[in-house]
Amino acid sequence: MRGYGKIILFGEHVCVYGYPALAVGLSKGVIAQVAKSEEKSHVLVIPSQNLKVSLQGNCALAQVFQKIIRFFPTNLLANKPPCQITLDPEIPIGAGLGSSAALSVAIIRALVQWYKLDWTSPKINEVAFAAESFFHGTPSGIDNTMATFGGFCYLRDAKRFPALTQCENNYPLGKLMGSSLQVQLPEPLRLVVMNTKKERETKRLVANVRTLVEKSPEHYHSIMQEAGGLAKEGLTCLERGEKEKLGALLNRNQELLRELKVSSPQIEVLCKKALSAGALGVKLTGAGGGGCVIAYAPGREQEIQKTVENEGFESFVTTVGVKTRSEEP
Ligand code: PMV
Repeated sequence: MRGYGKIILFGEHVCVYGYPALAVGLSKGVIAQVAKSEEKSHVLVIPSQNLKVSLQGNCALAQVFQKIIRFFPTNLLANKPPCQITLDPEIPIGAGLGSSAALSVAIIRALVQWYKLDWTSPKINEVAFAAESFFHGTPSGIDNTMATFGGFCYLRDAKRFPALTQCENNYPLGKLMGSSLQVQLPEPLRLVVMNTKKERETKRLVANVRTLVEKSPEHYHSIMQEAGGLAKEGLTCLERGEKEKLGALLNRNQELLRELKVSSPQIEVLCKKALSAGALGVKLTGAGGGGCVIAYAPGREQEIQKTVENEGFESFVTTVGVKTRSEEP
């Protein structure tokens, strides 16, 4: 069972305020396996981090686990033996690729299997959204939607922004609407994902942006309005295969994220290096402040990787936008 990671192409942070965002699912995320617990309680184990957490624990992971388990029927919890869920993260943790939501979805899917429930993906998404509220404070819902469904997702406030025509499904997420999109790309979208390795906390970055917005609402809403518009324009470029324009839009989004003060010196170094090595567009992805940066550099991915790896950064190339739903259990 897997919760998928994601890449936000356009609109991180601004989607928290209802402006549109566009994200694509990674084929990797967090894998879960479930078996009978050797202990009297439910247990989460993450061998790669040397971590074992029981349901009664106090750490953040235990608290999320408690939040998730409250959604399961009490008669099942009382009558079936507890389980051990072993988690294997395939993506960097806390680096803007939606690892916390992928972790929550993996845990939920493991419990659904353990209790032999017939929960649908929208139900799993709903529970993952509640878990994300713990990690993020005021999540937009984009991470849990991507972790559950993969594919392409366009998120927006349904009252202010119309649905796109090629929507497959709409999922209500608090006041926002996540739409799964059926997008036909002229060619697969390849991105270089570069990791600053700088740890940061999504909750804190989202709160910092809120402080800015509250201080100068007009100024920051105009920035957010523009960033939201890029999500829709970017999708059109993807569908039409307009490479240069797509790159320019990514670069513009990075400028706007800089104005929201969520960039960082390491992110800026990566942007500069990738652009100098021939990338058409580079921007941070996720909450920023560190974490990962994406470069769109069709045909020049290896040059970008070589350049940033010479500077001591880690990177990988991924092909995104491929439907991952068929990989579900
Ligand atoms: O950095 P991540 O993977 O937690 O992504 C956060 C994305 C934000 O737009 C900043 C927050 C949200 O809930 O959408």
